Amino acid sequence: MPLLRRRRLLAAAVVFLLAAVAHQSDAFTELETAQIGRFQDYLRIHTAHPSPDYAGAAAFLLPYAASLGLHTTTLHFTPCKSKPLLLLTWPGTDPSLPSVLLNSHLDSVPAEPEHWLHPPFAAHHDTGGGRIYARGAQDDKCLPIQYLEAIRGLRDAGFAPARTLHISLVPDEEISGADGFEKFARSEEFRELNVGFMLDEGQASVNDEFRVFYGDRLVWRLIVKATGAPGHGSRMFDGAAVENLMDCVETIAGFRDAQFGLVKAGLRGPGEVVSVNPGFVMNMQPSEAEVGFDFRLPPTEDVEHIIRRIKEEWAPAHKNLIHELMIKGPMQDVAGRPIVTPTNASNPWWSVFEQAIISAGGKLAKPEILSSTTDSRFIRQLGIPALGFSPMTNTPILLHDHNEFLEDKVFLRGIKVYEHIIRALSSFKG
Ligand SMILES: *[C@@H]1O[C@H](CO)[C@@H](O)[C@H](O)[C@H]1NC(C)=O
Ligand SMILES: [Zn+2]
Repeated sequence: MPLLRRRRLLAAAVVFLLAAVAHQSDAFTELETAQIGRFQDYLRIHTAHPSPDYAGAAAFLLPYAASLGLHTTTLHFTPCKSKPLLLLTWPGTDPSLPSVLLNSHLDSVPAEPEHWLHPPFAAHHDTGGGRIYARGAQDDKCLPIQYLEAIRGLRDAGFAPARTLHISLVPDEEISGADGFEKFARSEEFRELNVGFMLDEGQASVNDEFRVFYGDRLVWRLIVKATGAPGHGSRMFDGAAVENLMDCVETIAGFRDAQFGLVKAGLRGPGEVVSVNPGFVMNMQPSEAEVGFDFRLPPTEDVEHIIRRIKEEWAPAHKNLIHELMIKGPMQDVAGRPIVTPTNASNPWWSVFEQAIISAGGKLAKPEILSSTTDSRFIRQLGIPALGFSPMTNTPILLHDHNEFLEDKVFLRGIKVYEHIIRALSSFKG
């Protein structure tokens, strides 16, 4: 390359770099830049399964919370103490009022770096588009940073909450929560918090309306076993086990198509239908065959009706089919009601939340049932209202996906949204 051309290129590069730096400092205040930095620091801690660095996350979050004047407690629900549950507390001026709990899980699902544009634990900040790429950027490591930064903003503005505000950071949500929120929700420590309302993770929204979730689907596993006439594989005969099983698979497939059709036609949300997916055919012999199904049901579904269909239509005994139904978790709350949080006037927290979103300049989409499950189900089972909410608008839904990212401006706006939410919830006197 001729020297002159090289110099010109170099000069152009310097101008470009200066412009990029100027653009960045233009766009963000010193505080905002620091907030993005803290988000990146948290994302860089390897909290993905199968060996989440919970100690690293605790070593980052506890001093951070303490620096904001919050009280910190670490609880353990496993004998080896390798799965800490962190509690951060901002005491209210009226401790007689039930508290507000903001939840977030510490763990993430694994990432396959070969499918990513940037390493999944580098938290690369694409200064052009503003995207921060990392496993956990959406699910759900944005949340504790936004909670804490919102508290910083409120504290600096001289705000004092009436209700005590707790933040829980729990292990193992991605692997059932059995050693995390499930044990926590049953503990004496939890009872003592006297929680009146909880916010937990939600999901990104592809438009400019915030999504909010008032229920999680129920998880069932159905195993159907067929028996039939024994016979050699080379001979065709009626009533073989596999043939009986195929009938079952076909009728369930028909039900699945009908449910899926409702979603495709836009008549129901994906969380508002029964989903069913065939799992593995576990064992196939001429005289015995077995298949498993993964069922997800809206908590408001008529479950007795589904159980009847399984017995009478899908796996009837007269077709030499027997079935085993495994129901994970209760189907009703402690008061015998469906496990949902009302989003109407019967739940005063709902209007406080809704008003806070409006005061933050946001719009709420129609409340939804989440297709999958979150830790909220353990709280709703106790009859305590809980909503799933992650303030991410105009963002593709990338949880558990390759190239999970959150845009810097969306992340920062979330902090402001939580300032409104925390102010409203912790001031609510009803
Ligand atoms: C509010 O919603 C709950 C549950 O979704 C429902 O059972 C109840 O009838 C509704 N109440 C009112 C006042 O609309
Ligand atoms: Zn999550």
